[in-house]
Amino acid sequence: MTARWDEDSRADRVADTFRRLYGGSPDGVWAAPGRVNLIGEHTDYNDGFSLPMALPQTTLLAARARTDGRLRLHSAQGDGRITELAVAALTPGVVTGWAGYPAGVVWALAEAGHPVGGADLHFDSTVPTGAGLSSSAALECAVAVAYDELYGLHLRGPELARIAQRAENAFAGVPCGIMDQMASVCCTAEAALHLDARTPEHHRQVPFDLAGQGLRLLVIDTRVTHDLGDGAYAALRAGCERAAALLGLPALRDLPAGELTRALEALPAELVPLVRHVVTENARVAEAVSRLRAGDAAALGPILTAGHASLRDDYRVSCPETDLAVAAALEAGALGARMTGGGFGGSVIALVEAGRERAVGDCMTAAFATAGHRPPRVIEAAPGAGARRLTPTPATR
Ligand code: GLA
Repeated sequence: MTARWDEDSRADRVADTFRRLYGGSPDGVWAAPGRVNLIGEHTDYNDGFSLPMALPQTTLLAARARTDGRLRLHSAQGDGRITELAVAALTPGVVTGWAGYPAGVVWALAEAGHPVGGADLHFDSTVPTGAGLSSSAALECAVAVAYDELYGLHLRGPELARIAQRAENAFAGVPCGIMDQMASVCCTAEAALHLDARTPEHHRQVPFDLAGQGLRLLVIDTRVTHDLGDGAYAALRAGCERAAALLGLPALRDLPAGELTRALEALPAELVPLVRHVVTENARVAEAVSRLRAGDAAALGPILTAGHASLRDDYRVSCPETDLAVAAALEAGALGARMTGGGFGGSVIALVEAGRERAVGDCMTAAFATAGHRPPRVIEAAPGAGARRLTPTPATR
């Protein structure tokens, strides 16, 4: 009830600010969430599997179509200025900063041949930025779902996610996979999304009843982002693609776990840990899904912790702060913990029994203080809904 009320009042506020900025009412207010990934990291660009869930934190977008081909963008988290662009002049490289994500979606829709024009857009987000929680995917997906309705496109969720991913790859220049955008568009409340990145259309909702099983999921934002992130992500991706090519496979997803040992013998030493991570991580996703389907969410704990060890030791995308957060969570009695998202900083998730949230949070704060790190931010997350229109609701339209 409270969450619904909060969202309604946020939607009212966003619509009010829109009127003040642009004059007149928006055609609607849409919401798109950030995400955490439960398991299945660095598998999406290997055509593999992952299991993200949407966060309750969302980016709200008040939007109104325009007939003159102009695109105006404003964010409550920006510098106060309205960015104004011509849709016809959008091209990769021309828009920098946060505005590149929404502008990129409009560009990607036009590039794909969809009949889209301009719009007035005002964003207001509660998704933490720089925390590995997909704030950029939330921005993109809010625009994708809003434009879908404003311009009557009738695209399906995975198509909208592909458009958003294209915007991020080609317009913003980030070589990500499709997991974040699929999570933001296609997740449903009280479920995790079993994603097969080779065929996103075949995603499945897996019931994830945390509260009903006496569990809580904590998200610990370590508040560090290491600069090497972008180039390192691209290098890892290239390493995986090289390994698949050497093995004669379309993607690492096509290497069965039973053939792993033999395949590793055929690869150069530097590719061995990458391949081992991807193949074992895909197996962890399958295991997690089967445990959830059997109604045993607590069994995710050791799977998460094993996933972290693989990211730390084989894929090497963890960092001292995320390793510390995982160790502190386990020390305080968490059932399992791991870094989530691309890595090099960002956030850690910890699965805990209800009632232990405080102990884990306190242990985390103490461990970070002892190590001389900034205090982490700990929030509790429950699986939320994917991108959607908030107002006008179908009934009042
Ligand atoms: C980032 C990317 C995703 C995915 C993860 C790692 O979040 O945007 O596509 O590759 O890293 O799992």
